[in-house]
Amino acid sequence: MPPAGSPDDLLAAALAARARTYSPYSGYAVGAALRDEHGRVHAAPNVENAAYPQGQCAEASAIGVLIGAGGRRIVEALVVADAAAGLPTPCGACRQRLREFMPLDGLVHLAGLGGVIRSVTLGELLPLSFGPEFLLKETPR
Ligand code: THU
Repeated sequence: MPPAGSPDDLLAAALAARARTYSPYSGYAVGAALRDEHGRVHAAPNVENAAYPQGQCAEASAIGVLIGAGGRRIVEALVVADAAAGLPTPCGACRQRLREFMPLDGLVHLAGLGGVIRSVTLGELLPLSFGPEFLLKETPR
């Protein structure tokens, strides 16, 4: 496992996004921050819905922000939540969402409110995974 970096800009952006969470049903506030291929940071919180399945994880929200801003790749990611309930970590669906845009050796920082607790690669989070190269001859732009 690679050592935890000090992605201070990602943490600050994710905490700011988390502060704007809309999560009245679970009460579990999450922020995600993604660094794109240009070095820009995109962040967003989870957004829940009274029709529960329509809720959106912070990672999914942040991917939408990155793509909408013209980013096409994720080079580093961070997810932050209150670690009192356990190490914050992307859900299975969001691991696959990240897989679409992020290399398997890219770092995903898992953070509590006080900072990064652990950093893992996407490949560690999602081993033996299926991704766009199975279907596409070239990386999409
Ligand atoms: N949640 C995220 O935003 N990211 C994750 O990877 C784990 C779960 C959100 C979804 C829901 O709004 C709340 O946390 C409880 O599941």
